[in-house]
This record gives sequence, C-alpha cells and structure tokens, in this order.
Amino acid sequence: MRLPQVIALGGSLLRPEESENRKIWFGKLRQLAVHIEGNSRKLGIVVGGGLPAREGIDLAKNLVSDPDRLDEVGIAATRLNATIIQQILLDIGCNVAPEIPHTTESAGQYFLDYNIVVMGGTTPGHTTDAVAVSLARDCNASDCIIATNVSHIYDKDPRNFTDAKPYFEMTIDDLIKLCGTDRLAPGQSAVVDPIAVSIAAKNQINIAVLDGRDVDLIEHALDGKEFEGTLVRS
Ligand code: UTP
Repeated sequence: MRLPQVIALGGSLLRPEESENRKIWFGKLRQLAVHIEGNSRKLGIVVGGGLPAREGIDLAKNLVSDPDRLDEVGIAATRLNATIIQQILLDIGCNVAPEIPHTTESAGQYFLDYNIVVMGGTTPGHTTDAVAVSLARDCNASDCIIATNVSHIYDKDPRNFTDAKPYFEMTIDDLIKLCGTDRLAPGQSAVVDPIAVSIAAKNQINIAVLDGRDVDLIEHALDGKEFEGTLVRS
C-alpha cells in the first residue's frame, strides 16, 4: 500500500463569502479525489471549522470560562465541515471512510480499507493543522500540506503590513521563531498553529503552506511538483 498523503483544508475555504466560486471549488476538489484514487493513492483530508467554529465559540465565550470547553465547540464545527466534504465525495462514489474519525490513530486504521479519510478535530489545545501533522506522522508521511486562504507564510501579517514579505522556503526552526510555541486561544487564527509546527519539528515532517482556494495548487503539491506557496523544511 502506498503511504497516505495528508492535507489540512482550512475551514475558511468553506466560507459563505466564497460562495460564488463554491461550486467550482467543490467540483475541482472532487476531480482531485478522483485523480488520487485513479492513481491508487490514499489521501487524508483534515477539515477546519471556519465560520461555524468562530460563531459557536463566540456564542459560548461569555458563559464558558474553561478554554477546553470552547475548544470542544470548535471541534464540533470542524466535524460538521468534515462531514460536508465526506458526503460530497461519497456522492460521486469515492471510496471514503464512512465515519469521521475522532483520533488520528483510528484515521490511520481506516486507510486499510478506504482510499480517502476525512476528519476534523480531535482534542482541545490545538487546531486542525496539528491534527493534520499528527495524521501525517501516524501514516509515516514525510510531508503535510496546509491549504489555507493566504498564498504564503509572510514575515508579518500581510493584511496589516503592505511591506510584508512572503517566504518561498524556510526551515522549521525559522517558523518556530516566527510563530512561537504557545497554544492558540479557542478560535484564534494563525497562518500555522504553533502546536502543529512543534509536532512537525519533532517528527521531521515538512510542511507546505499554500492557497487552497486554488485546488490546482493542492494538486501540484500532492503530485510532488513545484508549487506556489511556502515549503517549510524539517
Ligand atoms: P480550526 O482548525 O478550524 O482552526 O479549529 P483554524 O486553523 O484557526 O481555522 P480554519 O482552519 O481557518 O478554520 C477551530 C477551533 O476548534 C478548536 C480550537 O478552538 C480551534 O481554534 N479545535 C480544533 C480543537 O480544540 N482541537 C482540534 O483538534 C481542532
């Protein structure tokens, strides 16, 4: 069996603002799944919580003091989004695991019988980036793709700084210096979750960060071709 490949699909990719392009994007994602299956490859897709996670966490925030409880709200949203992707792929006959696994270990087991495994979050304390890197580790994959809604990792936030510079390649130590190692607050955004970076560093997993709004970029990275984005070498 070929080793599964793993991508994290940021929940922001499912946002309502993107709805005009949604049909095309889902269509291309389906084509990608068919391409992977057609080449007897396996793919783990870890889906983020996006808007339902932010909304759910905001609703509960003033009433819940334990951050782990707010994280549980976020995890529920990631599983909702994962179910949407899972059902869309099942509907065209892809060989997708029928359950949304709650651990990366059980996701790894599903690869024995299925080509595609879709999951969301696992436990409090990290985001789905960390789940994706953990799944890559458990599948002995050397790389993990993080598909988000920015084109690269930047030296500063490009939304606030017009002179922000993209990295095309960097080392994992550079990324640790850039993003630190602290746990993010429930619902807090970062280009890459520091916990995911620590797991990648510990297990020598390379991370590719790219703009998942363009499914071709995901396909290039999965096919091992040169891709537009940031390659973080571990
Ligand atoms: P996401 O994985 O969606 O966060 O988790 P993100 O990467 O910042 O955002 P996307 O990918 O653009 O959507 C949403 C929230 O769910 C909780 C955390 O509170 C996180 O902020 N979460 C998620 C967990 O606690 N554990 C998990 O395994 C996953």
